[in-house]
Amino acid sequence: MTPKPNPHVLKINRAPQGMEGRNANICLDRNERYTPFDESIFNRMVSRLTPHDFCSYPDTSPLLHALAKTNKIDRDCIYLTNGSDSALRLLFQAYAQKDRELVCRNPTYAMTSIYGEIANAKVRSIEYDENRKVSLATLLEALENDPTMMVLANPDQPTGATIEEDDLLALCKATNEKGVLLVIDEAYYPFHPLSAANYIHQFDNLAVTRTFSKWGGLAGLRLGYLLSNPQIINTVQKVRGSHEVNSVAAKMAQYILEHPEVTDEYVSTIEASRAKLREFAQSRNLGFPSCPANFQLVEFESQDQAIAAANALEEENILVRSGFKETSVAKCIRITLDTEDIIGKLIDILVRFLTKHQPMH
Ligand SMILES: Cc1ncc(COP(=O)(O)O)c(C=O)c1O
Repeated sequence: MTPKPNPHVLKINRAPQGMEGRNANICLDRNERYTPFDESIFNRMVSRLTPHDFCSYPDTSPLLHALAKTNKIDRDCIYLTNGSDSALRLLFQAYAQKDRELVCRNPTYAMTSIYGEIANAKVRSIEYDENRKVSLATLLEALENDPTMMVLANPDQPTGATIEEDDLLALCKATNEKGVLLVIDEAYYPFHPLSAANYIHQFDNLAVTRTFSKWGGLAGLRLGYLLSNPQIINTVQKVRGSHEVNSVAAKMAQYILEHPEVTDEYVSTIEASRAKLREFAQSRNLGFPSCPANFQLVEFESQDQAIAAANALEEENILVRSGFKETSVAKCIRITLDTEDIIGKLIDILVRFLTKHQPMH
C-alpha cells in the first residue's frame, strides 16, 4: 500500500528546481555570483584542501574563529549552516508552531513561507504596496495575533526594500516584549551594511541569518550562518543534522574572510555595473528602485512589457527574473548584477528591444 504523507505536506506547492541545462546561459536570475573567481584566485583557494578534508568529518572550528574575529562576536553566538536557507529552516523547526501565526512580507525569499507551511503554521504574509513598502505600523499590528515568529529580510528580495534602523529597533523592542522570535535575514549583507547583529545582546529574541552565497560568491558550496544569543543557538542545535557544513565549504569561506580584496573587487564591480544600468534606465524612463544587493530591479510600463523584455534577453541566452505576480514588482525584471561587460551586453539587448517596443519620446 502507498504510505500516507502528512496531509499538510501534500498541500505544499513546490516549483521544480529547474537547474538542468541552465549553465548554457548567462544566469542573472538567481542572485549568485555569475562570473567566477579568476583562475589564479581559484587555484590558491583549492590549494588549501588536503585529502584529509574529503575522508574525515569536518572540523569547522577554524572558520568559526575567523567569523568571530571578523564580526567581533563571541564564538558561541555563531552557528554555521548549510547555506542561510538551512539557518532559516532550523529556526522554523525549533520555533514555528502548528496553527500559530508567523509573520513575513510578500514577496520575499520563497522558502520563508514554505518552511512555515512545513511547520504547519499559519503564514501571515503582508503584501508590499505599489511603492514596495510595508509600514512599521502594519508590522506592529501583526503582532497582535500572538505569532511565534516574525521573519524579515533586510534588504528584502525581490523588492530591494530595506528596514531603517529606527524601525528595526522598534521591531526588536515590540517583538521582545511579546516573546516573538524576530529573524532578520541578511542574505545580502554587506551590500546593505546596516545589520541587526549589533543588537543580538540587547534583545534575547533576535536571530540574524547570513550567507557566503551572495557577497562571498560561494553559492555552490552552501554555507551560511546564524548570529544570535547562546540560548537560541543552543535551541537550534537540538534540531540540527549531524554534520551539515562540509570541510570544503568551510575552508573556502575562511579563505574569503582572510582575503577581503576578493569580495571588495566583486562589490566594486557590482556597483560599477549598477551605475551603468541606472544610466540606461534613466535615459529610457524606466523605474530603478533602490536595491542595496547584488541584484537590481528595473521597472517597465507594464507587466507585459517586462515579460517581453525578459523574453528578448532569454532569446539571447541571458536569464533574468520576471513575471512576478505581486503588484509591487509585477512590472519589474530582476537582474543579478555582474561585470560591466555582461551588463553592457544586457543593456544592448534592452536598447534594441525598447527601440521596437517603446519609441523614444
Ligand atoms: C533573501 C534571501 N534569503 C536567503 C537566501 C538563501 O540563500 P543561501 O541559502 O544560498 O544562503 C536567499 C537566496 O536567494 C535570499 O534571497
